[in-house]
Amino acid sequence: MSSSCVSDPQQPFDPREFRSALGSFATGVTIVTTVTGEGVPIGLTCNSFSSVSLSPALVLWSLSLRSPNLSNFLQAPHFAINVLAADQRELSHRFAQSMANKFDGAQWKSGVLGVPLMDGAAAQLECRNETRYYSGDHVIFIGHVLHYVYRDCAPLVFWRGRYAELDSADDGSKSGL
Ligand SMILES: Cc1cc2nc3c(=O)[nH]c(=O)nc-3n(C[C@H](O)[C@H](O)[C@H](O)COP(=O)(O)O)c2cc1C
Repeated sequence: MSSSCVSDPQQPFDPREFRSALGSFATGVTIVTTVTGEGVPIGLTCNSFSSVSLSPALVLWSLSLRSPNLSNFLQAPHFAINVLAADQRELSHRFAQSMANKFDGAQWKSGVLGVPLMDGAAAQLECRNETRYYSGDHVIFIGHVLHYVYRDCAPLVFWRGRYAELDSADDGSKSGL
């Protein structure tokens, strides 16, 4: 490792350094989508996604309290998690911006629960919007997965504030899980 950082117990955290510490955790990248009460598709790039439970099938993600879409996601009965494939960087970049008409030019379909599913995604999970927890400066959403599809492809990866790809997705061994 070329650089390192230790937090000072006497000082409040430096937000940039804390963000960098969290960025040591490599994640996949998702676009979380829903539709407003008026039927307008909305969505954002999100890497706070995590699996929670196999039975029942629960997943979570968190949304900043500053998001202009907060009230829409709080009220939506359903949302979709679109796990992005390695070749979807541009889509991820587009949905990480606060702008109208993010879906213009994007290829997507409405799923069985009426939420937007992005074409070409590695996986699409359609969820009932089960539980919301206010926590710090985010709201954690727990979704009950009612329908999913996935395909065998390389995922988009996010690590240390940058997009990345896996060197080799298959080293010939299995984790045993
Ligand atoms: C890789 C990546 C992951 C992100 N993860 C989250 C997240 O988990 N939660 C969140 O609220 N914002 C996250 N963001 C930031 C949002 O995508 C960004 O603020 C976006 O503008 C929100 O869209 P909105 O303004 O239309 O709500 C992430 C951005 C990137 C690039």
